[in-house]
This record gives sequence, structure tokens and C-alpha cells, in this order.
Amino acid sequence: MPAVVVVGAQWGDEGKGKATDQLGSRVDYVVKFNGGNNAGHTVVVGDEKYALHLLPSGILTPDVVPVIGNGVVVDIEVLFQELDALSARGVDVSRLKVSAAAHIIAPYHRTIDKVTERFLGKRRIGTTGRGIGPAYADKISRVGIRIQDLFDEKILRQKVEGSLDQKNHLLVKVYNRRAITVDETVEELLRYAERVRPMVTDCSLLLNEALDAGKTVLFEAGQATMLDVDHGTYPFVTSSNATAGGAVTGSGIGPTRIDRVVGVIKAYTTRVGEGPFPTELDDDMGEFLRKTGGEYGVTTGRPRRCGWYDAVIARYASRVNGLTDLVMTKLDVLTGLEKIPVCVAYEVDGKRFDEMPIDQSDFHHAVPIYEELDGWWEDITHVRRFEDLPVNAQRYVEHLESISGTRISAIGVGPDREATISRHDLLG
Ligand code: IMP
Repeated sequence: MPAVVVVGAQWGDEGKGKATDQLGSRVDYVVKFNGGNNAGHTVVVGDEKYALHLLPSGILTPDVVPVIGNGVVVDIEVLFQELDALSARGVDVSRLKVSAAAHIIAPYHRTIDKVTERFLGKRRIGTTGRGIGPAYADKISRVGIRIQDLFDEKILRQKVEGSLDQKNHLLVKVYNRRAITVDETVEELLRYAERVRPMVTDCSLLLNEALDAGKTVLFEAGQATMLDVDHGTYPFVTSSNATAGGAVTGSGIGPTRIDRVVGVIKAYTTRVGEGPFPTELDDDMGEFLRKTGGEYGVTTGRPRRCGWYDAVIARYASRVNGLTDLVMTKLDVLTGLEKIPVCVAYEVDGKRFDEMPIDQSDFHHAVPIYEELDGWWEDITHVRRFEDLPVNAQRYVEHLESISGTRISAIGVGPDREATISRHDLLG
């Protein structure tokens, strides 16, 4: 039985929940392996709508074990806010497992995230301000605080001291802020220690044993390919590996265990935050996509930047993730357009690029080369079989499939869970 990785193929918010829904009740474990509460997914179950930022979506499915892997950065205050909110609505949250090796977002990480962005001015990244980057920076600099440190106050205090030492110089002397004390930080972190203790697990062992026992494990990436710190549009990226490789390092399974890698991709493109976006539309069409697609951030409420489908990015995502399947979401948003442009390549200074330019500056100057496909007018939200789609919608999907590097195995045609057309079984 398989280990399936689900990743975003663009700049995030592709609707990974659609892929998870396709796997349905066959999943036994859902693992979050990267990122933190910078993510945001809305899950609709029956009449109830849940906005989750940190918790894996599996928390809402009875019998599924949700796991927060070592690759995640955990803001424990947010963790318990989300758990308490779900408990209050009757959701059983007792199955959650948290890796002892996951790093913690301390209050000073949030402060530094915000002041750094302000200091960068025009060069800012447009982060979510949740302390993600500074927490990962500490992890790599080997001054991070891990979940296991919460259970030994002496060690916790030493580590917080070590971590705050330099930061206070920076905060006071460069950013003109007040120093943060060790006491206030330790006190805040210890507040949750006893509550988190029963959840703490060796996630690597847990997941490897689950796979050995024939269980199905879903690894759900936060953010997306183009926001990956190695493979995205650096420096306008998040600070973790949001591509398929992150599932391995962020959870403690080996690459040979992964059977399927599913990329989720919108039928058009969106991005939040700063950074290059070749097919972005600054006109009425961009506004049409934003309004019709409801393109506003779940975490920050920011309007998302919108543009046409970019097959260069789809091919790149297929390659760097080793995708086996694509799940295309929000096809219904394109209903009612006479012509739908699709980017097939870029032009930079008179030169054609069929693949992502290796030089970031070229990507910043990339001008899309479009093909125009015929649109459709019919409402498609009730369609459940591919052959029942209007012919032009079928052609749109088939054409995208032929230029995107991976087969399109499912198509989202509306916000409801069931509003999906399945073409190939994601576990078959
Ligand atoms: P950070 O992850 O808060 O450091 O933000 C870095 C970049 O990633 C910014 O452009 C954010 O807008 C973007 N980002 C982070 N999380 C998400 C997400 O879940 N969806 C879309 N963009 C995100």
C-alpha cells in the first residue's frame, strides 16, 4: 500500500484538499512535513467550514492519524488555539502526533519576521509574518528550540539564552526595538509543555512501521513548488522544502518508500506576496479571476495576484517533484470566457525559453508566449464525468495535459467536495 505525496505545483493555494478528498477514506495517516502556520486551507465538511493553518487536514477525519513531522516549525500557541477551536466544535483531536524533533516558532521569531520585512522596504518578501523564516534560520544556524526541549527547563533556558543573545543586539541596535527577555520567552513556551507531551512521538518510527503494516500514508506539503527554498523563485520563497523531497527529510522516511507524487495545479495561476509572476494580469481579466475564484488568502486575507495557466511552471513542477499525477482545480472559474490564453513558453530579450530559465533575472523579465484556446459557456459545476464536459473544456484539459508533463488525473469543477471529475485513481 502506498505512500502518497501531495504538493502544490504553482505558488500555493491550489486546493490540495481536492487531492486529499480523492484519496478519501483509504488514507490512514496524514503527515504535514514542512512549513508552519503560514499555510491556510479551508476544509468544508457537511455544512461546517474549518480554516486550518497549522494542523494537517486529516485532523477532521475520524480514524485518520494526523502527524506533524520534524520538518515543520510549530507555533505551539497557535497549535493549541486550533486544537481548542476544533474541540469546541466536537472534533476529536486526541489522535494528533507531533515529532519530538520539530522546531518551535518562539515569540521572538514573529517579532523578527515583521521587523525584517519592514526594514527590507521595497525588497520585502511579503511573508505571512508568522515567524516562519526566522525559525528555520535558527534551525539551520543550530540555535533553534525543538519540541523535546520543552521537557527540560534547564536546557530550554540555555537554548533560549543562546538564541536570544545575538537577536537582542540586532533588535535593539539595528531595529530600535526593546530587548526580549529569556524569562518571558521560557515562561511562554513552558505554558504548553504538559499539554504537548502526550502527543510527542518518534514520527519516523511511527510512519515506517505504518508503511510496513500496509497502511496508506499521505504526505501533504505546505506552500508549493515555486515557493520552495531550493527550487522556487528565490528569494521570494518560503524557508522550507515544499517539493516532494521535503516529505522525506521532513518526516523520516526514505525516498524508496514513496509510490505516488500528486501535484495540485489550478486551471489558471495565483500568487500572494512579492516576486516574479510572468502570466500575471493587472487588468479586468485579473479581477475577473480573483472575484470568480474567490482568490483571497485564508491566512492573511490578502487579495491574491491572478494570471493565466503557465505550462512552463507545470513542466518544471513535474520535473522537480517527479510527479505521477496532476489534480487540476477550479476549472469552473474559467467558464464564460470566449478565449483562454495559456502560456507555453517565455521570451526573454528575443530568446525563447521552453523550460524555466536557470538565471533568476531572466525569469523576472520573462514575457509569456501564449496559445489561445476556445472557451465554453455551460455551467460545469454539476458535471462528474469527463465526457460530459463541454467539448471545449475537454480540449482545454487535454491540451494542458499534453504540455504540462504529467497526466491530469482529477479535475475540480466547484468548491464542494464532490465537485470533482476523476480520470485515474490516485492510489491505483
Ligand atoms: P513565509 O512563508 O511567511 O516566510 O512567506 C514567504 C512567501 O511565501 C510569501 O510570499 C508568502 O506569501 C508565501 N506563502 C507562505 N505560505 C503560503 C501559502 O500557504 N500559500 C501561498 N503563499 C504562501
